[in-house]
Amino acid sequence: MLAGADPYFTVAEHNILVAGGAGGLGAPLARALSARAARIAIADVDPVRAAALADEIKAAGGEALAVSLDVVEQASCTAAVDAAVQQWGRLDGLVNASGIYRVAPALELADAEWERTLDINVSGAFRLARAAGKVMIEQQHGSIISLASVSSAVANPNYAAYAASKAAVAHVTRVLAVEWARHGVRVNAIGPAVTPTPLAAPILADEATRSSALARIPMGRFGTPDDLVAATIFLLSPGSAFVTGQTLYVDGGRTIS
Ligand SMILES: NC(=O)c1ccc[n+]([C@@H]2O[C@H](COP(=O)([O-])OP(=O)(O)OC[C@H]3O[C@@H](n4cnc5c(N)ncnc54)[C@H](O)[C@@H]3O)[C@@H](O)[C@H]2O)c1
Repeated sequence: MLAGADPYFTVAEHNILVAGGAGGLGAPLARALSARAARIAIADVDPVRAAALADEIKAAGGEALAVSLDVVEQASCTAAVDAAVQQWGRLDGLVNASGIYRVAPALELADAEWERTLDINVSGAFRLARAAGKVMIEQQHGSIISLASVSSAVANPNYAAYAASKAAVAHVTRVLAVEWARHGVRVNAIGPAVTPTPLAAPILADEATRSSALARIPMGRFGTPDDLVAATIFLLSPGSAFVTGQTLYVDGGRTIS
């Protein structure tokens, strides 16, 4: 059987909003979903990179739309979801791959960094899920995925703000899953390990930090965006119809070591 014809594992004809869609993880996930015949709304605070990716997908024969999004504004989240619904009539999936990474020793962590990290990573994820959830509840159908992190579960020094934001993403995922379960809306998260992207550049730039991060991953390598593709497709697909509230760690064993 062709992979695209597998009814358990398909996103063909799904309308999916990828937030942070111009980013190091969001863009490859958008390309991978488009390659499997999903229609993709690329939403990002950087509209130039979002438009470039939408053009690239369209040039490759896919259907894509670029949308400007700042997750710190509820109105922006609602407008991004509305743009996708106006274009394609319904929203089947949301993949929220927006986020920022700020780390500092707790005694040096500025209030502004703490607040910005929580505002984008957890409040932003909530605002966007709320906008998508409203549409999906009306449809009685939809799958929401947020990019959590191994930091949802493990405690790294200097990570107070980032880890708090990601633990909250994982737990809000559980709450929304319970709240919306009867409405046909599933809410899950994916927890990657360190993956070379612009966000992870500070970890990789310093050799001591890099090697200590690598030493904590039992499989002995960093993640790749490709590692997340199958998990994302699974959580968007009919085959995961009874899976909700979970954080699926795709982390080479980082969270169990
Ligand atoms: N790369 C990793 O090592 C790693 C590991 C675990 C979890 N994650 C999580 O995965 C997600 C994606 O990370 P990435 O590595 O692709 O980072 P990235 O910096 O490459 O991409 C993040 C994207 O989010 C966008 N963005 C930032 N603020 C925004 C806002 N206010 N509104 C809308 N978009 C905004 C950026 O423009 C960018 O395109 C993040 O939530 C991150 O915490 C990443």
